[in-house]
Amino acid sequence: MQKSLQQTARGGEKRTGSGACPHMMWLTLLYGCTGGAALLYALYRWVIPAAVQYHGGLALIWHDVIVERMLDTLTQSTRPQRLLGAVQKNATRGDPCSVVKAIDHFCRHKEWAMNVGDEKGCILDSVVSEINPATVLELGTYCGYSTVRIASRLPPHAKLITLEFNPDFAVIARQVIAWAGVEEKVQLVEGASGDWIPKMKEQFGIKTFDLVFLDHWKDRYLPDTKLMEECGLLRKGSVLLADNVICPGTPEYLEYVRNSPRYESRYFKSHLEYTKVEDGLEKSVFLG
Ligand SMILES: C[S@@+](CC[C@H](N)C(=O)[O-])C[C@H]1O[C@@H](n2cnc3c(N)ncnc32)[C@H](O)[C@@H]1O
Repeated sequence: MQKSLQQTARGGEKRTGSGACPHMMWLTLLYGCTGGAALLYALYRWVIPAAVQYHGGLALIWHDVIVERMLDTLTQSTRPQRLLGAVQKNATRGDPCSVVKAIDHFCRHKEWAMNVGDEKGCILDSVVSEINPATVLELGTYCGYSTVRIASRLPPHAKLITLEFNPDFAVIARQVIAWAGVEEKVQLVEGASGDWIPKMKEQFGIKTFDLVFLDHWKDRYLPDTKLMEECGLLRKGSVLLADNVICPGTPEYLEYVRNSPRYESRYFKSHLEYTKVEDGLEKSVFLG
């Protein structure tokens, strides 16, 4: 009797031990996975963005390549589509300010995007207000953020032509521009700057541009500036405003506008959109 009791007790011990072991294993695995996921999220959400925000190259690789591709795959949507979603959710139709604010909020708190951004955007606003242009050319529309900023500050009857060669971006930009209610002032033209600049006069009845905002691929700034000169699209007093002259940088363009006797050029120091990396706008007045 005593022996069988001892056996039962031992058996009981044994049963408890064999039940606790997988239980502990699962708990350890669960804690490990949760901890790992939390660590990865913290790295993705705070640690890496904080670490790269002072380095232009790393910031662009992180935000513009790694995060964009990852989110595109996970959400089966594109960054411009997500940006448009944020506009439709948070901005008031017909209110350009609320559109700009919704995009800036999206880019600061959700996903970085290559708009001129809030900080340099203020410089852009002040140049537009100072010139009060009747004709504006924007090279590089992307989702229409800067288009909305410029258009909302134009005087009545002014015209802004914006060029974008990526049709997927153009589709989104049209909707952002319409949501802001500035479509009457904006003509979005799909195609490459090099093809459209020579056709501006005959196709759109443009004589010269009062303001040109250069914000397309950086290696096109200089050839397109020379092309605009050749095509007679610049008059004495026309202003070229170029974004990203430091990051990613446009050294040949800067060298040209700063040293040519045909331009009076000035640098406006700022930061790469939504980061702390130095970048700026170059404002160059064409002297004829
Ligand atoms: C930096 S993004 C423009 C951002 C926009 N200006 C803003 O601040 O909201 C540059 C855009 O220029 C377009 N692009 C680049 N090279 C171009 C070219 N040669 N002609 C037309 N579009 C171009 C790209 O597809 C991209 O959408």
